[in-house]
Amino acid sequence: MQIISTAAAIKKQTEQIRSSGKTIGFVPTMGALHEGHLQLLRTATRENDVTVCSIFVNPTQFNNAEDFKLYPRLLEADAAVLAQNNCEVLFAPEVAEMYTEALGLKFDFGTLETVMEGQFRPGHFTGVAAVVSKLFHLVKPHKAYFGQKDLQQFAIINRLVTDLSFDLELVRHPIVREPDGLAMSSRNHRLSMAERQVATHLYKALQLAAQSLAQQSVAEVKATVQEYLSPYEIIRLEYFEIADSQTLQPLHNLENKKNIALCIAAFVGEVRLIDNLVIDA
Ligand code: PAJ
Repeated sequence: MQIISTAAAIKKQTEQIRSSGKTIGFVPTMGALHEGHLQLLRTATRENDVTVCSIFVNPTQFNNAEDFKLYPRLLEADAAVLAQNNCEVLFAPEVAEMYTEALGLKFDFGTLETVMEGQFRPGHFTGVAAVVSKLFHLVKPHKAYFGQKDLQQFAIINRLVTDLSFDLELVRHPIVREPDGLAMSSRNHRLSMAERQVATHLYKALQLAAQSLAQQSVAEVKATVQEYLSPYEIIRLEYFEIADSQTLQPLHNLENKKNIALCIAAFVGEVRLIDNLVIDA
């Protein structure tokens, strides 16, 4: 596996791969890799000639300085795991390589970002859209892989690709979970043992909500979730939302509704976790 840290070198490398007629599958990450990331990587490897992965803890998408500081950085271990999993090229730039000056650009995705993550993490999606645009320009992938775990991020990147005419195909990968249901996340590294045990109730709350949809109204399902989580003092619910899985707008009634997304964000201790369940029926 080749490890590249400069924009000029990754551009040159991916241009060469493209001009040799090979297809590029791209998996952008912030590192601290887990099985969720690796499943994206394996899918990319199956579907393309060459797989490129990036690891970059992107400062412009963190609205909380402490979260940025504490984000796990495990580049050496990550590189070893990527090499074992048939990644051909790792792009791992320093912050100064990606941002020569402070980001002045702002994106506005309208109603797609006024809800949920956009509402609770102001500026987050501008940072995501900026770094993903830069990475797409540098890597020029044929296909790019993102997880459903970040459902709103996927919707935003989908919109970005359409609006800016990026010539690539986006692939949305299902959520990869721990055996007890907790969605895999790099932030899970920061949970204490007690917090890790309690964190599984976020997914259980989503499952309970899914079961309740048939008999309860939106307000009742929300109350059911709040009540279910209330005994766990270390869980601080930020939002539980029932939304349209395409537009991500909140739903007020559930009649004849398809494509429902149940989305949750909560602090478990000091660690902020998100999860979702999409119901297509
Ligand atoms: P990161 O959180 O490292 O995630 C990288 C990719 O892995 C994202 O597309 C995310 O949705 C996916 N992913 C994470 N956990 C997953 C899981 N349990 N199951 C399936 N997919 C999972 O998302 C980012 O980084 C950044 O915002 C990024 C897109 C790299 C831009 O900086």
